[in-house]
Amino acid sequence: MKIIFGFLATILIVSLAPFSYASDPSPLQDFCVAVSDSASAVFVNGKFCKNPNMVVADDFFLPGLNKPGNTSNAVGSRVTPVNVNQLPGLNTLGISAVRIDYAPYGLNPPHTHPRATEILVVLEGTLYVGFVTSNPANPAMKNKLFTKYLNPGDVFVFPEGLIHFQFNVGKTNAVAFAGLSSQNPGVITIANAVFGSDPPINPVVLTKAFQVEKNVIDYLQAQFWSNIG
Ligand SMILES: *[C@@H]1O[C@H](CO)[C@@H](O)[C@H](O)[C@H]1NC(C)=O
Repeated sequence: MKIIFGFLATILIVSLAPFSYASDPSPLQDFCVAVSDSASAVFVNGKFCKNPNMVVADDFFLPGLNKPGNTSNAVGSRVTPVNVNQLPGLNTLGISAVRIDYAPYGLNPPHTHPRATEILVVLEGTLYVGFVTSNPANPAMKNKLFTKYLNPGDVFVFPEGLIHFQFNVGKTNAVAFAGLSSQNPGVITIANAVFGSDPPINPVVLTKAFQVEKNVIDYLQAQFWSNIG
């Protein structure tokens, strides 16, 4: 009896598991081209689907990724996204892309994609890249950093949700393309989210979290934290 109960409990847990997945759902049809319909009160996980009879080749097409992004900003990099917001045909397909341009010594600052793993290919230049693991189970251990220098043709993967960065260590421009395992990966730029939120996080919270004097937090919160992608 106990064994049967355990078996039934296992079946129940396994059958409920799909509802707790954090990544995109699998497509339920050949495609589901997105349409903007903010007026509708119906909620869908993703975007509404265009009538398949109205779908055209251009729904799956986006030109222009040969053009460099504008890197004239504080960090010297620019991310040009190709997700479901730019390319409606990506709706429900669980994939997207970016082009990243780096000025000499330009940085794509530490950030995470809450919904996607990222696979990066370097086309030009030399990048110093890395990611940090989540907090270890043993509190005495530290978050582990993995880094690599990448040259043209090199590929590197940033696991889903982990904080990562790319820094152009060369005197020339660098270019990379990346694929991401979500139609809408999301970006959380760490400094922007923590020090540039609107309204600002109470400095009492940040002085304690970062173990610094309040003037350091005041200085950081006074900076202009613009997003680069
Ligand atoms: C690049 O961005 C800077 C700063 O926003 C701007 O002044 C400049 O005109 C832009 N350059 C191009 C080619 O769009």
